[in-house]
Amino acid sequence: MIKLINIVNGNIVLIDLETPWVEKYRPQNFSDIVSQSIAIENIKDFITSNNMPHMIFTGPAGTGKTSTALIIAKEAIKSENYYINVLELNASDTVRMEYVRTVIKDFVNQNVMVGSNTVKFILLDEADNIPNQVQQALRRIIEKSSNDVKFILLCNYINKIIDPIISRCAVFRFVKLSKEKIIERLKLIIKKEGIKISPKKASEFYETLFFISEGDLRKAINTLQMAVALELIDNLDLAEILKISGFLDNNTFNKLILTIKEHNLNHAKDLIESIENLDSRNLIRQIINELPSLNINPSAYANLISFIGEIDYRISQGSDEQIQITALIAKLIRYSEG
Ligand SMILES: Nc1ncnc2c1ncn2[C@@H]1O[C@H](COP(=O)(O)OP(=O)(O)OP(=O)(O)O)[C@@H](O)[C@H]1O
Ligand SMILES: [Mg+2]
Repeated sequence: MIKLINIVNGNIVLIDLETPWVEKYRPQNFSDIVSQSIAIENIKDFITSNNMPHMIFTGPAGTGKTSTALIIAKEAIKSENYYINVLELNASDTVRMEYVRTVIKDFVNQNVMVGSNTVKFILLDEADNIPNQVQQALRRIIEKSSNDVKFILLCNYINKIIDPIISRCAVFRFVKLSKEKIIERLKLIIKKEGIKISPKKASEFYETLFFISEGDLRKAINTLQMAVALELIDNLDLAEILKISGFLDNNTFNKLILTIKEHNLNHAKDLIESIENLDSRNLIRQIINELPSLNINPSAYANLISFIGEIDYRISQGSDEQIQITALIAKLIRYSEG
């Protein structure tokens, strides 16, 4: 197992780098799930009421949907029977109609239930990527399944699930995690792994990890582990942490902001061209964060925000990133009063 040796208060601590920390620290029971209290309370009520519906968990990435589904299945089914009574599938498995017809149908219909009162679960991850026609087939299986078979569908975008499925399920919405919750969880991992964070830079470090994460705890934990593996923690090299996460380091970013304040489009263009591996959508997030310092003309503010949305959309559709970012900078220069 790969370990990183770290010295904390004179003691040698071995940091585990081989196991992905998102798995190592995957919540094992409901009390480990942070935030999501509304969804979790309702889910617990359903479970204890012995009247569990089919369920859809929807919401942004890394907010605890898969973890919650696994906890439900684990709590309802004794461990030795888990693999007989739980079918975990990903949308990529279920894209083919044949697969849904045979594998899911067989699982639903088979009578090898072990133990009395046992429920069978079908966990469908990334259900929003299942083609509509296949969802129709799925809907018929859900309709016909007996009371002891429960479907749990997980998705980021519920509008991609067909209405007849939605109306047969209880929908639980998972939300992005707040800064406090993300930092709380990161601190727990840092403590358990015996990592030492210099108190002077700690708050800036956590702010940076939260900014990178966008409320996605998986991303926050992965960035932390990557920073430890690349030995960026001792000096808390925030510029490098931002860089490996696809953001501009503060130094370059501040230079770019200065070109806007000085209304110097040529410098801005040169700077943008000099950036290796430009991740333009991340850069847009950094720029939005910095808008208050740009002194934007109030009458142009709404216009600017809608322009930023348009640029982000164009890039998502494959437009040339440099051209789009340069257009955005030109607009910022126009509206910034320095
Ligand atoms: N609410 C949460 N409480 C505690 N840990 C969480 C929470 N959300 C995410 N995590 C952490 O992030 C990891 C990924 O979470 P999970 O797989 O449940 O996310 P998800 O919502 O299913 O994301 P996706 O939409 O990308 O599938 C977990 O292993 C856990 O370490
Ligand atoms: Mg998931």
